[in-house]
Amino acid sequence: MKLENAFTMDTSSIKYGPGVTREIGFDMEELGCRRVAVITDGNLRESDPVNLTMEALRGRKIDAVLYDGASVEPTDLSFKAAIAFAAQGRFDGYVAVGGGSAMDTAKAANLYATHPADFMTYVNPPIGKGVPVPGPLRPMIAIPTTAGTGSETTGVAIFDYLEMKAKTGIASRALRPVRGIVDPENTRSLPKMVAACTGLDQLTHALEALTAIPFNRRPAPEHPRLRPAYQGANPISHIWASRAVEMISRNLVHVVENPADDAARGEVLLAATYAGIGFGNGGVHLAHGMSYPVSGMVRGYVPEGYPAGHPLVPHGMAVCLNAPAVFRFTAPADPAIHLYAAGLMGCDVSAAKPEEAGEILAGAVIDLMRRVGMPNGLAAVGFGPQDVDKLVEGTLPQHRVTKLSPRPAGPEELRQLFLDSMTLW
Ligand SMILES: [Fe+2]
Repeated sequence: MKLENAFTMDTSSIKYGPGVTREIGFDMEELGCRRVAVITDGNLRESDPVNLTMEALRGRKIDAVLYDGASVEPTDLSFKAAIAFAAQGRFDGYVAVGGGSAMDTAKAANLYATHPADFMTYVNPPIGKGVPVPGPLRPMIAIPTTAGTGSETTGVAIFDYLEMKAKTGIASRALRPVRGIVDPENTRSLPKMVAACTGLDQLTHALEALTAIPFNRRPAPEHPRLRPAYQGANPISHIWASRAVEMISRNLVHVVENPADDAARGEVLLAATYAGIGFGNGGVHLAHGMSYPVSGMVRGYVPEGYPAGHPLVPHGMAVCLNAPAVFRFTAPADPAIHLYAAGLMGCDVSAAKPEEAGEILAGAVIDLMRRVGMPNGLAAVGFGPQDVDKLVEGTLPQHRVTKLSPRPAGPEELRQLFLDSMTLW
């Protein structure tokens, strides 16, 4: 087997600063857009970031049309509704305002309105056909309002495929927004638990990008076009992910407890973007792969700070609940990188032995989870050993990410990882 010997760094242009949302009219004008779809979810319809965006676009005489039908947890149905809106609207540009769901919805709407096809055409295999996107999309700018997904820098759009009760997505460099507007003023009103979950999501993005299988241990693509966006750990993703781990570890507890601290909140938001560049190029692996069935199979759990009556294991929570077991499992593949990551999180690893690496990194993640009020393992959000077979079944189709684990994880290994994630402390 010929191994990969190249990697790329793809990223959106980023504009960072308090108040930069007001520049969105100029940004879209500069891209030559005259008729723009602004995509958000219903909760944000009347929010400051959406109002500012609409004003700024109209201020530059751009014909801006608001679509607030993005679902907080997007599905194939919610994507299709947005696609229909986009196809009818004949837009020449897109702005997404919101969390990962709004951004992912805008990516899908832009893709299918620009390159019409049956819905499953571009969806990741094995669920979809995974046909490469035929060309560039219309310009899209992303304005994140949560500090957690990094979706403004990635070419990935995730949704629930309702028929199969599975999370899947579309992944192509063509989906990447041309710019991310990262404005700390847009994240001021996040509830505590939302800030904690999104912060831990980005921490896990960065830790997984650092510890993923190295790019040069993956098989070489048969054609350069088939080189995946998630390339495995590489020297460029390493830089962005490392810095993100440091910044989040240093600021997250403080930000959750003091949401009014603009400077610290700005650091976490910037770190989310760094982590997005890290994992958007390097990839994520088991903690993300295992999180999808955890979120998909939720029964009654409703976290504080989220809408009542809507059972949910938020994405960032689902990801971090699995992370300690995952890093114990992956550490033997490369103890040094796991110790390095623990060091970035503030652990003294000067005297640590290689065989302690997994435990030390898992301990650092658990410590941070406890300090920001995460539940104690999968059992605390309603799962038990009887659910493990189904959880494994839901993880196996996520091989686009799980194959980036530095240690192969088949059904038996996944089973043990879920059992080890039931109770964390
Ligand atoms: Fe994530």
